[in-house]
Parts: sequence; C-alpha cells; structure tokens
Amino acid sequence: MDSFDSGNESEENDEIARSAHAGMLHDHERHLKFNQALKETLAELSKTKNSIQVLDIGTGTSILSMMAASHSEKVKVVACEMFQPIAELAREIITDNGFEQQIKVLNKSSTEMTIPEDLPRKADVLVTEILDSELIGEGMLPTVNDAHLRLLSKDAMIIPAAAQVCIQLVESESLWEMNNLDEKNSGLKLPKHYQDCRRTANAHEIQCSQLYPDHIKVLSNSCICTEIDFTSVYKHNDTAKQSKHQILVKVTKTGILHGIVMWWDLIVHKEKDIILSMAPSWVSEEYIWRDHWMQCLYFLPKPIEVISGESLQVTMYHDNYTVWFDVVRNVLSSSNSLQPPICHCNLHVAWSRETFALWNTKKLIEKWRQLGYKLSKDDKRVVIVGDSSLAALVLKNNGFENVAYSESSKWTRSIIKGICDANNVIFPLTKVNHETDTVVYDPFWPCNILPWHILQIWHDVFSLSQKGVQVYPSMLYLKAAVVKFQELYKIRSTVGDILGFDLTKFDDLISKVQCVYSDPEHGQFYSAEPYSMIEYQHSIASDIVTLMDFNLTDQPPSKDILRSVTIKLDTEFSKEMALVVWLDSVYSEDITFTTGLTSKHSPWVQYSKQAVVFIPGFLKKELSGSTTIDCTVLYRPGHDHDVVFSFSRMGF
Ligand SMILES: C[S@@+](CC[C@H](N)C(=O)[O-])C[C@H]1O[C@@H](n2cnc3c(N)ncnc32)[C@H](O)[C@@H]1O
Repeated sequence: MDSFDSGNESEENDEIARSAHAGMLHDHERHLKFNQALKETLAELSKTKNSIQVLDIGTGTSILSMMAASHSEKVKVVACEMFQPIAELAREIITDNGFEQQIKVLNKSSTEMTIPEDLPRKADVLVTEILDSELIGEGMLPTVNDAHLRLLSKDAMIIPAAAQVCIQLVESESLWEMNNLDEKNSGLKLPKHYQDCRRTANAHEIQCSQLYPDHIKVLSNSCICTEIDFTSVYKHNDTAKQSKHQILVKVTKTGILHGIVMWWDLIVHKEKDIILSMAPSWVSEEYIWRDHWMQCLYFLPKPIEVISGESLQVTMYHDNYTVWFDVVRNVLSSSNSLQPPICHCNLHVAWSRETFALWNTKKLIEKWRQLGYKLSKDDKRVVIVGDSSLAALVLKNNGFENVAYSESSKWTRSIIKGICDANNVIFPLTKVNHETDTVVYDPFWPCNILPWHILQIWHDVFSLSQKGVQVYPSMLYLKAAVVKFQELYKIRSTVGDILGFDLTKFDDLISKVQCVYSDPEHGQFYSAEPYSMIEYQHSIASDIVTLMDFNLTDQPPSKDILRSVTIKLDTEFSKEMALVVWLDSVYSEDITFTTGLTSKHSPWVQYSKQAVVFIPGFLKKELSGSTTIDCTVLYRPGHDHDVVFSFSRMGF
C-alpha cells in the first residue's frame, strides 16, 4: 500500500481543507454582494481616475481580487495573504484566470507591508473579508486601522463599509447544559468558586437556525446593539482599548434568560444599500444556510427569570478581538464588567461543551450508578481511568466505597478534587496497582476528537487483562449510518467556478487532501471530520450497521485491519448523502455508552461529536442511482489509531 506524503506540505494542505475556505467559497450570496459592491465602487472611481489601486487584505483564493480586476482594466490589485500555501494557490488560480498582469500576490501579513516595496502607492480601494462569526475575532479592527494609517489614501473606499451588531435574548436549557455543570442534573454539589466564576468571554459559535425552535426560545425582538464603521480609523470609546455600547431590550416573552444570540449584518456598500445578513432563520425570511459564519451565543453567568414587558439593559463590550455582554435588570445600576470575563476556576477552560453536556445528562449518570451497583455487589476494588471524569465521584457519592480515580492530567485532577471537596468525598487519586481488581475506562476523553481515538487505550487494557485485572469496556463497536443532509453536504461539494472565475485548482487541492490513503485493490480512502449532528438537519437514510468491532482483551494489532460492509440505503443514493460514524463502548449486557445513536429513531447524543465522512464528487457520480454502498473501513493502529473509509457501488 502506498500512502500519500505525510510531510509538512500535506499538513498545511490539511489545514486548508479544515479551514472555512471551502465553506466560504460555497457562499454564493457573499460573492454576489461583494462583487456588486466592487462593481459600483470601481465604476464610480473610473469616472475620475485613470488607474485604480486596490488592496485585498487576506485574499485567500484571490476571488475578491479577481472580481475587482474583472470590472475595469484600470484596476491593479495587490493581494496579500499571510498563509503561504493559500498564497501559492492564489497565484495559480490567478494565472488560470489570466489576471497575472493585474493582480500581484504577496505572501505576508498586511501589517508588514510597506510602500512602495509591496504596494506602489496608497490604495484607492480596500477590499477585505477577514470576518468570523464574532465579526472581529480574525483581527478586522486592528488590520483595517493599520491599513488606514499606512496603506490607504485619505478618501479610500472600503468594502465592506460597516457592520451592525444585532442581538436577541434567548432561553435554552439544553444549550445552557453545554456551558455549565448543573447541580440538579449531575446530582453533585459544586464549589462556590465554580458557581460564581464569570467564565472566559467565549462566543459559543453555533448553528442557531438549525436548533430553533427545539433548543432555542426567543424572549425579545432583535435589536441593533451598535454599528462598527470600517471607513475610518476605529477608535475605542474607552481608554483601555475597549468599547462599550448600551441598549435597553424589552422582554416579549416570560421565561428564563440563558444568553444572548449575536449576529452581524454587513453593510458591504452603504450608498447602494448592499447588505449581507447573518440573521437567523426566525428573524429573516431571506435566511441563507452557511457553515463558515454562524450566530454566536453568549451565556450569562447565571440564568435570570424575566417577565414579558420588562426592560433589561444589555451592554456589549469589545476589545480588538473579543466581544462580551452584560445584562442587568436595574437600568440605573452601572455594570462593572469592563474587563473581559476570565475563568478563574479553570473548569470553564478545561472542559469542552461536550464535557459539560456529558455530566449534565441524567441518563448517563444513571448508567454509571448501575455500573457501580454491579461492581459493588462483587466487592471489587475499582480504579476509574479518565480525563475530566466525574464517574468515580458519582459512584462514591452513591455509596460505592472501593473506588479510586486515576486522572491523566494534573490540571484537571485539581478541578475534580475541588468538586470532590464540595461533596465531602475524600477522594483517593491513585495509580492502578497490584491491589486493583477492576479498571474502568471512562469512554469520553475530551482529547478524543474523533470517536475511535479511544482506541489509544487498547494496549493498556490488554496488558491489564493479561495480569488478571477485569477491565471495562472490553468490546467497542464502530457503528455507522448513511444520512441525507439538508445543507452540510454542500461544503465538500466541488466549487468549480464562482461568477465565471475558474477555481478548479482549489477543488483539486481539497480532493487531494480528503484522500488520505491509496491502495491498488481498494482505491482511495477518505478521512472523517467531527461534527455535532444535532446542528445539521438531515434524515437517516440507512439502517445502523456495525463497521468493525474491537475486543480490547485481544492482543492489539500491529498491522492495519480492513473490513468491507455493504450498506443498504432506504432510497437511491443522492449527492446529499454522507456516512456518519460513531463508537459504542460496551460495559455489560445492559450498559453501553454511545457517541452517536442508540437506534435509528433516537436523537444524536449531545455530549459527543460524530465523525462525518463526505463522499467525494467523482464517487457520488459513480454511486448515483445505487441503492447500496460498499464501504471499506481501514483501521490504522500505527497511524494514531486512525480509521479511514473507501466507497464503491456494490460489485464494483
Ligand atoms: C476569511 S478568509 C477570506 C479569503 C478571501 N478573501 C475570500 O473572500 O474568499 C481570510 C484570509 O485572510 C488571511 N488573513 C487574515 N488577516 C490577514 C492579514 N492581516 N494579512 C494577510 N492575510 C490575512 C487568512 O490567512 C485567510 O486566508
């Protein structure tokens, strides 16, 4: 078997694939609006200028530079891109489209550019799209400020011209559970400093429209919090390089206020009223699905009960990169949150959203109790091995004395110790030793990005079981189902051309990166990507199948393992389909922890991401019309226990 080069080039290409470039290149509305704004701006300038100097900061694939160059021969563009592989790709795309005379690509940060070495003179137009879901997180403010001060003429036109930051008050019990450990869910007391922690100013970037209305209840109308102007140097209204914008928001529905949904409307061209809106589906009839920009959810430090008709004072703060909010009921009280919130208890830094959701799930806690009950009947001395695991504490809290905990990370060990102290549990943190009868591995490790990363425990499980220790889990099952996405499939579709510009070089690179392994007999193998399935609308399009099983008490394999499974589809194969894979860890006949689905009609678990394997374009054509898919799974123990996938039509 030949594998593709796994050197630096491949890692960088991988980064391109994982970045939002593919998602943004499928955002047709973004292209239409930027193109329209460029056309209007350049037509206006052409009336008075013989040559127009455009600066494109963060050119990516150079799409905005090509749009600018295509509108007038008077246009010269300097396109800067600080990420080397993308800058290289931009050069190739520009050559393919015949713009090499008009566009010069610089591989450097705009902040390092100088005149005339990099830019012949101050630019007449700045076009830049370095925006993230939080608007300013990619450095739009300092970057544009620096350009105003050094690289742009005084009357330069800026695209986009401004952005309005919009907010709405929301209730969401289920999303709140991904943000904080709740005493009533976990059944555990929390130390006061965990409860009082203001947490780090972290935007919860999330597909709100997909989660509405099941997970989100709206408690107010949407309001514009502020407008940020990019056409001049942005000056913070506070000396500490922070800005503060206050508004009164009227509550329209009684409920529990958990947080604020924030999004922005980009004023791409002010005079021509060209607006690109990130408003969620319940606000805008023109809502468009996209995965590279989502809404952001900012949780309050504590939920507030609110009553329809009352007004709340919402303060939006931001520095150069981060946004945070404060909500107070008493309008006269001045809010004291000038400093961005920082987690002092470490819990909110150490734990992921999924870890919070995990220990807020009553059903899971009940499973741990059942397991504890089983083990205590046999009077075993048990060590639970995990990272950020509360399992031992749950068992101990439920009267099972002989349990100790082996925590891999020093940092999270101190967090767990804090929770133990609050519950008056004296907690033996231990290593597995000769007195241990039973070792239980917690199946959910925050470092497991893809479900099968738990296979890293295989060697340890095997060697313990060789020494006569009873180890749980002993069996793992790799499960999968084909799903039909409503939208998500788009981000891995080929881009082809955008408004007539040829981007096939980008598609070539993505397909090269997606294919991680090649074998003459089974063809090309593709990697999976982690997604939280609850955020992406879809239907299940096959039965659940077992792709592979792993008996951890067997000697771990040193060579790759290959299995083929035929998956019968509920309907003919269509381009929206992808394979979703997860792992079930079996602890006993009636105790299984899953990272996916328990049955075809059950909801996806919220406390783990699932692995999505997108089917590449040419394979989609091959599979078209088929009612079965042959899936070959390759487990690579020597490659960080990775699992990769190959597809074909049955019998091919
Ligand atoms: C959101 S992407 C947009 C790409 C492209 N403009 C488009 O619209 O498709 C932003 C790109 O800007 C680059 N970037 C961000 N800040 C930059 C800076 N100050 N100088 C040069 N490149 C920058 C990033 O590496 C990234 O490739």
